[in-house]
Amino acid sequence: MLNRAQLRIEIRNRRQQLSAQAQQDAAIGLVRQLLPCAEVLAAQHIALYLSNDSEIDTTALIQALWQAGKTLYLPILHPFCAGYLIFQHYQPTTPLVPNRFGIPEPKLNCAELLPVQQLDLIFTPLVAFDSLGQRLGMGGGFYDRTLSQLAANHRCRLIGLAHDCQQVPQLPVEPWDQPLHAVATGSRLLRF
Ligand SMILES: Nc1ncnc2c1ncn2[C@@H]1O[C@H](COP(=O)(O)OP(=O)(O)OP(=O)(O)O)[C@@H](O)[C@H]1O
Ligand SMILES: [Mg+2]
Repeated sequence: MLNRAQLRIEIRNRRQQLSAQAQQDAAIGLVRQLLPCAEVLAAQHIALYLSNDSEIDTTALIQALWQAGKTLYLPILHPFCAGYLIFQHYQPTTPLVPNRFGIPEPKLNCAELLPVQQLDLIFTPLVAFDSLGQRLGMGGGFYDRTLSQLAANHRCRLIGLAHDCQQVPQLPVEPWDQPLHAVATGSRLLRF
């Protein structure tokens, strides 16, 4: 079995090799999988992220969710609590600034923040996922730390977004890894 560092390299390479057409088809397929699903229909406050590094493109999903009247939030690196994310309201007019990884995030406005416990649904990025709902991220532990603030029985649903080629048979898991309730790709919604 490949170790976590090897898996990150292998799977990131895989998704970087997808054609522009494959990326576009996946982004449209993702909207088709998610808009009618029960978790989205039941949710009002939804966190998601802006795609980076050949991740499945969330642009069409964001537009569709706004159209459906959902309230959206983007993660921001916590300004003092290193390693944690906070979630800020995201509207078409929200000013974005690049964070220290070069990823655009909303300009911090404390009046627009929502505690993670008040989100109904969080779409997470991931590098790899397996058939048990385990996820492997980019290695910063940001989502693991942030999601560990939700009680085990919290109603907030966690759905990873990925390309089909990011699935592996079984991930090596560490005690701090936070599992997902589902993963959506361009072709499937897998619940665990
Ligand atoms: N709840 C936590 N408290 C303290 N440290 C944590 C917690 N969760 C993860 N970490 C630390 O974060 C580091 C990276 O974790 P890991 O390799 O699982 O990242 P990842 O899942 O790839 O990243 P991400 O969660 O941002 O997607 C590990 O060294 C781990 O010790
Ligand atoms: Mg992890």
